[in-house]
Amino acid sequence: MASRRFTRRQALIGAAPVLAALPMAGLAAAPAVTGPGTPPPGLASRDAHAALGHAAMIGEAVPAPGGPDDLDALLRPPPALPHRPGRVRRYSLTALDREIEVAKGVTFPAWTYNGTVPGPVLRATEDDVLEVVFANGGSHPHTIHFHGIHPADMDGVFEIVEPGGAFTYRFPARPYGMQLYHCHAAPLKKHIHKGLYGAFIIDPPKPRRPAREIVLVMNGYDTDGDGENNFYSVNGRAFYYARYPIRVRRSETLRIYLANLTEFDLINSFHLHGEFFRYYRTGSTDQFDYTDTVMQCQGERGIIEIDWHNAGRFMFHAHQSEFTELGWMGFFDVVDA
Ligand code: CU
Ligand code: CU
Repeated sequence: MASRRFTRRQALIGAAPVLAALPMAGLAAAPAVTGPGTPPPGLASRDAHAALGHAAMIGEAVPAPGGPDDLDALLRPPPALPHRPGRVRRYSLTALDREIEVAKGVTFPAWTYNGTVPGPVLRATEDDVLEVVFANGGSHPHTIHFHGIHPADMDGVFEIVEPGGAFTYRFPARPYGMQLYHCHAAPLKKHIHKGLYGAFIIDPPKPRRPAREIVLVMNGYDTDGDGENNFYSVNGRAFYYARYPIRVRRSETLRIYLANLTEFDLINSFHLHGEFFRYYRTGSTDQFDYTDTVMQCQGERGIIEIDWHNAGRFMFHAHQSEFTELGWMGFFDVVDA
């Protein structure tokens, strides 16, 4: 499949007029705006008006690939299980070469775990035995390197798995927090930017308090091979949560497991509009910051907890404006229902 080539500059120049044209189109068609971009019932008309103010970046006109539920498996983590030391948590990860659509009409020749970028969300409770059966169905040697505490021979640096080969990782999951995993074959920069990474949640022995939970993995794509990202996203698709806002209840705490796997750029960030949140760096202690913006370097991650003061539509995005305009942005629809 021939992929469209975009340099970073062309993407900026090319995307800007299309996006800039949308506010007028959105306003002209205001009564006809329907679907995921329509404010949910319960939002006041002033919220609807506010939403139209973001018409360039919200609703059906947003150039995001895929349908409304496509990323649910990456967004919604498996449930936490009670503390039971020694229980085995089994996962199978297979490295696969896949052409994936990362922005509307833009494909990327990815190296994936199980066919998606990011790979599947792994979850265990502290003191579970994590068992990951890794098969290499790709065209290059790969590994899985987990962040956390584990024996040296389970570190995924020296145990290179050739195409057609397999390796089973097995170790007690610890410490609790938001961990992650990624390939550690050389050249590392290439193996990470091609898409071999994912979230790995370890729950504490004493359960966290109830909350609505989601996972956001920040990443980027160099679609023209010049060593710079042309698109940015959370959970793999540019502008996806602008087209399909994430609906949450005001009465429920929203817990976000956030990780940064962006290659090439030194940092990435998460900024929330209209609200403050608790940020637990790595999520392995109960210390937190109270803020509305956090930055993470590559491999850094943390846990965000939001207690909503207001219903309505709130934007979230990278606070690097360029990343925002190249796809790393979305909305929460906070509803009272
Ligand atoms: Cu690799
Ligand atoms: Cu790492």
